[in-house]
Amino acid sequence: MSAAIRTRGLEKVYRSQGHETRALAGVDLEVPSGAIYGLIGRNGAGKTTFIRITSTQLLPTAGEVTVLDHDALRDPRSVRSRIAVIPQESRPLYFLSVDELVYLYLKLRGMPSEEAHARTDRVLQELDLTSRRKLLVSRLSGGMRRRAMVAMVLASDAEVLYLDEPTTGLDPIARREVWAAIQRASREKRTVLLTTHYLDEAEALSARLALIENGRRLLEGSPAEIRSRIPRPFRVTVRGVLGRAELEPYGEVTTIEGGFLVFAREADARELTLMALQRGAPVAMAPASLEDVFLQMVGRPLDEGSESSGEASE
Ligand SMILES: Nc1ncnc2c1ncn2[C@@H]1O[C@H](COP(=O)(O)OP(=O)(O)O)[C@@H](O)[C@H]1O
Ligand SMILES: [Mg+2]
Repeated sequence: MSAAIRTRGLEKVYRSQGHETRALAGVDLEVPSGAIYGLIGRNGAGKTTFIRITSTQLLPTAGEVTVLDHDALRDPRSVRSRIAVIPQESRPLYFLSVDELVYLYLKLRGMPSEEAHARTDRVLQELDLTSRRKLLVSRLSGGMRRRAMVAMVLASDAEVLYLDEPTTGLDPIARREVWAAIQRASREKRTVLLTTHYLDEAEALSARLALIENGRRLLEGSPAEIRSRIPRPFRVTVRGVLGRAELEPYGEVTTIEGGFLVFAREADARELTLMALQRGAPVAMAPASLEDVFLQMVGRPLDEGSESSGEASE
């Protein structure tokens, strides 16, 4: 499969006031075209730096970047017209209404007026922004403003869409609407590079994903491939009557609110589930979530902040 974005040995060192931060420490990544690719990692992992470099907004310290078969470092102009990126905090845009924001963005990209109007209407509907279309962007809540920015990028005809934390700060319903809109974009065979620190989001949307930790690619693959790397890929939660000692033969037991969580191989998980049912204990069996996988592989939850105080390990 051809890659929409490819990096080799991508490095970025920020230098400010005599202080150096190695945000990316040699990242090789291939984002296949026409699918949603999730870049996950905790705060400070290097996700935004990766997005800014591969979308031609920032130069790396070392490495190669190819986007849609162009060298993005030597020939950024050939790339820019074919990608769309949510801008950083961009005050001037706030004096536009929501529909003006989307429409003008499309016009600036060179889209004919009629098509720009049609696409604006459609995206506002998709993201449930129609009733707010005449409001000034500056008057919107943070979450609503984010949705407007996502709408702008999704409405474009760009082949590669960069969405840096598109759902951070959104309520659960707005999140689902953004997910659905992203999935529609992907059905049109567009490439979406998405960053998130929500693992359920990465799992629900991404055909493939990469975990970035301290500027390094720690894991890469489809959700199923990543799951298969752990020895006990099933989770069984048992509440009520069963004690820890009875569960331990089946797998790895941890205590949870009102019961136990057991990670187990599939056959053991089934056996344990049957045993618990026979004993009348409330039980649930499911494949391990990505959250479980990362907890087992990385040792601490992803949403546990670690704003880059430590040095990269290894
Ligand atoms: N402009 C900058 N100047 C100095 N350090 C920066 C700058 N931007 C990001 N960093 C640092 O680089 C690291 C990676 O940041 P970033 O790419 O924003 O991570 P993420 O998006 O995963 O949270 C962090 O330690 C961050 O503090
Ligand atoms: Mg970021």
